[in-house]
Amino acid sequence: MERILSGIKPTGNLTLGNYIGALKHFKDFQDSGEVFIFIADLHALTLPIDPKAINDNTRDLAAFYLASGLDPKKATIFVQSSVSAHAELNAIMQNYLYMGELSRMTQFKEKSAKMNDSAIGLGLFAYPVLMACDILLYDADIVPVGEDQIQHVEITRDLANRINKRYGKDTVVVPNYRVNKVGARIMSLSDPTVKMSKSDPKGDIFLKDPMNVVRKKIMSAVTDLGSEVKFDKENKPGISNLLTIYASIKEISIEDAEAHFVGYRYGDFKREVADAVIAELEPFQQRYQQIINDKSYLAVLREGAERASKIANVTLNRVKKAVGLLDVYGE
Ligand code: AMP
Ligand code: TRP
Repeated sequence: MERILSGIKPTGNLTLGNYIGALKHFKDFQDSGEVFIFIADLHALTLPIDPKAINDNTRDLAAFYLASGLDPKKATIFVQSSVSAHAELNAIMQNYLYMGELSRMTQFKEKSAKMNDSAIGLGLFAYPVLMACDILLYDADIVPVGEDQIQHVEITRDLANRINKRYGKDTVVVPNYRVNKVGARIMSLSDPTVKMSKSDPKGDIFLKDPMNVVRKKIMSAVTDLGSEVKFDKENKPGISNLLTIYASIKEISIEDAEAHFVGYRYGDFKREVADAVIAELEPFQQRYQQIINDKSYLAVLREGAERASKIANVTLNRVKKAVGLLDVYGE
């Protein structure tokens, strides 16, 4: 059975971009494969974050995972820091990714460019090492992510191939990424040339936004010159983004979405996009709220930590042995 693994950082309010690019699709794999979905809380520490924020966001994310339809009987849902094998494998793997390649990572360049050199932590630089460990520990075959994470899965592949070449071809599994054809990069509603990200309150739809706010944000989304609802990323980035949102929510192709809106005016088009987003988010939010209130996510995370640890420790021990670390209990 194929192993599928993905994670999201508990760094801020989750957006519609996270939902469409990643979260919404995790459940698609749970009937055909073995699914591991985790909360990347150690990764959240790579940029300054308030202790209460990371704690609250972790609970939120667990509830969002469950509200999205992930079934804890089928999928293992856990918190990264509750499985110590991640940190242990990290201590080994950090020796096999190199300063040059880490300094060329887009995410590192973008994030560190905004910071004062003296405030950039080692963890931000070494981010891809820990992420590679997250993936390799579960022998993951497929990693579903949004477009911005492809480079991280590619460096994981480089690392895995490097390890297998040096220590034997079956030491770790070389993973593949999976991005959705539609919706791998949802753009900001206030500036459709930049990605919708957790730190852009104007252009973001947050998964916790009240429905009247969701509607208002979509109705006031930046559109383009002209009046036709057509997919044209170059000349109509705003309309194209809204079409992408609609198509992803409705699970149809861009062409079908375009065909549906032939002859529509921008205002009516936006109204229908808002209706579609609300029809999806409203029940999702209700499920989320119930899970947050009854705290049922805690038992799920505890069981997830146990199941994940068992599997991760098998890989950890295999790697330790391969690189030559003495197993003091093994003889
Ligand atoms: P992050 O918020 O960086 O932890 O991202 C969690 C997941 O959401 C990753 O798989 C990202 O690729 C995906 N993601 C984040 N922002 C967007 C976006 N604007 N469009 C599509 N996917 C996204
Ligand atoms: N880096 C991912 C993000 O920012 C989160 C993440 C951490 C992840 N470890 C992972 C995603 C392993 C997939 C697999 O979105």
